[in-house]
Amino acid sequence: MSPETERADTVPPIIEVRGLRKWYPVRSGFFASLVGAGEAKHVKAVDGVDFTIRPGEVLGLAGESGCGKSTTGMTVAKLHEPSGGSIIFDGEDLASITGRQRLKRFRRGAQIVFQNPYESLNPRFNVYQSVLEPIAIHMPAEQSSHEAMVHRALERAGLLPVKNFVSRYPHELSGGQLQRVAIARAIAVEPRFLVADEPVSMLDVSVRAGILNLLRKFATELDMGILYISHDLSTMRHICTRIAIMYLGRIVEIGPTAQILDDPQHPYAQALIAAAPVMRRGARKRIHLEGAVPNPIDLPLGCRFNPRCSRAVALCRTQEPLLEPIGGRRQAACHLVNQS
Ligand SMILES: Nc1ncnc2c1ncn2[C@@H]1O[C@H](COP(=O)(O)OP(=O)(O)OP(=O)(O)O)[C@@H](O)[C@H]1O
Ligand SMILES: [Mg+2]
Repeated sequence: MSPETERADTVPPIIEVRGLRKWYPVRSGFFASLVGAGEAKHVKAVDGVDFTIRPGEVLGLAGESGCGKSTTGMTVAKLHEPSGGSIIFDGEDLASITGRQRLKRFRRGAQIVFQNPYESLNPRFNVYQSVLEPIAIHMPAEQSSHEAMVHRALERAGLLPVKNFVSRYPHELSGGQLQRVAIARAIAVEPRFLVADEPVSMLDVSVRAGILNLLRKFATELDMGILYISHDLSTMRHICTRIAIMYLGRIVEIGPTAQILDDPQHPYAQALIAAAPVMRRGARKRIHLEGAVPNPIDLPLGCRFNPRCSRAVALCRTQEPLLEPIGGRRQAACHLVNQS
């Protein structure tokens, strides 16, 4: 399957996110707490996010720093409790998952790879022990196959020949090799859904393509659904089936990779893509982003992008646009785009 090809709609999604919210309470000052001033404030890091990912798809999540990408990834992987909305994993609403055994089953099915492999591995564990740990936790009954599972995960992560790596410790590996161990740990329990949060941004440019190819292979060959979080739109063209552009806790445009990167419709998506150096193909005009990103505590009224949008009209300052179909399997949240 090429990255441009979307998975047929008949395949049920592995993950379905509806109206997802993650708000963090803001600690008020000492004086305010004494007088009980004002209502409690929140950082609205994720504030109504919708998307689905089918097996075999890589959904890219892009946007400026602080727009809520990592919070979305961690909430979907249930490392954070959502403040609202629903997450449906393999047809089952996670809100209804209460028992330890069912939560454990979800944890096995949904794994996460972080940006910094130096922090995600225990320095006292060798490669074998690191990869064995999640297998021992999630599949204790299959002890006789544990060694084979560790080897298969290391092989899939491209650490070859495996025997050269099993007894090495993190300090004896390069950054790229460490990230491959972190990936082997994540896929060792054969998850169906993987969140990869900036998995190559700390790595040398020379090893990035190898890691990205690996993720793409997991989607196409192992039928995994992947949420790939990155600032780097050029890597997204290479591995993503679809792309979602996020701004201040919401998705503003989502659709097939080529449509989003070559012909974005939302003014923010246009500005973000035009600003990425390798994205500026042909005669695309560079669009200037006005002002700074507002903080996610006091969000602007109406469209949250309106204070920075050069095309904003009166409606944009009063009414928040919803994510709506705009043709071509695409959705955008913009009054101007939706009306056209
Ligand atoms: N634990 C927390 N408590 C309070 N606010 C938080 C917390 N974690 C994140 N935030 C805030 O939520 C918003 C979104 O943060 P997040 O880390 O999800 O952004 P991001 O898009 O991943 O950014 P980057 O591209 O820099 O990694 C930011 O304003 C951040 O300061
Ligand atoms: Mg982040």
